[in-house]
Amino acid sequence: MIYFYNVSKEFGRGAGVYDLNFNIHKGEFVCIVGPSGAGKSTILKLIYMDEKPTDGKVVVDNFDSSMLQKDGIPYLRRRVGMIFQDFQLLRDRNVYDNVALALRVMRVRRKKIKKRVLQALNSVGLGHRAQYYPQELSGGEQQRVSVARAIVKEPIVLLADEPTGNLDPQVAREILALLRRINEQGTAVVMATHNYNLIKNTPYRRIRIEEGRVVDT
Ligand SMILES: Nc1ncnc2c1ncn2[C@@H]1O[C@H](COP(=O)(O)OP(=O)(O)O)[C@@H](O)[C@H]1O
Ligand SMILES: [Mg+2]
Repeated sequence: MIYFYNVSKEFGRGAGVYDLNFNIHKGEFVCIVGPSGAGKSTILKLIYMDEKPTDGKVVVDNFDSSMLQKDGIPYLRRRVGMIFQDFQLLRDRNVYDNVALALRVMRVRRKKIKKRVLQALNSVGLGHRAQYYPQELSGGEQQRVSVARAIVKEPIVLLADEPTGNLDPQVAREILALLRRINEQGTAVVMATHNYNLIKNTPYRRIRIEEGRVVDT
C-alpha cells in the first residue's frame, strides 16, 4: 500500500533521509522510532507528499511521487489522514467545524457531513464536545479532535507525528489506545515517535531510523 523505493530527501549539509526501502501493508500498524533529528517527520511528509524525494520514489495507494502533479495532491490527502504533536486545530472554529471542514472541501452533502462528523466524534469519545472551541478542551481532548478530523475522511492510513509529545504519560497511553482501536477497525497507522518507552510493549513492527537511515525494520 505504501512503498519506498530507494528514497532520499536531501536538505543539504548532510541533513535528510537516505536510500529508504520499505513497504507498509494495508491495515498494518508501524512505529517509526529514533532520536530527534533522525528523519521521522521527513518520512511522514514524504508519505503525505508534503516533501518530494530528491531520489527514488514513494508510492501511496495509486499515487506515485514521481508522477503526481500539484493538483493531484488533494486527492492523495483524501486517502491519508495526518495528526501532529501540536494538534493544529483551528482556534476560531468549534470542534464540529474543525472536523467537518475536511468533508466540506470534498463537497460531501451537508446531511452526510453531519452524520459522519458525529460518528467520528463519537468514536473518539467527544460527541458531547461538538460545540466547544479547541482552547476549551484539554490537550488529550484536542488530540482526539484531530484524530476525528483525520478519520472522518475514512482514510486508508493515519499518519501520526509524535502524537503524544505534548501529553502527560497517562493521556499519551489513552491516545495510543485510541490509535490501536482505529487500526483494529482496518485503518493502517504509521506513528513516528522518539518515545521508545511508549511503544516498547506493543506488538507493532518498528522501523528504526538513525541519522536519516533505516538501521532496523
Ligand atoms: N525543511 C528542512 N530544511 C532543512 N533541513 C531540514 C528540513 N526538514 C528537516 N530537516 C533536517 O532533516 C533532518 C531530519 O529531520 P526530521 O525528519 O524533522 O527528524 P525527526 O522528525 O526524526 O526529529 C534534521 O537534521 C533536520 O534538521
Ligand atoms: Mg519529527
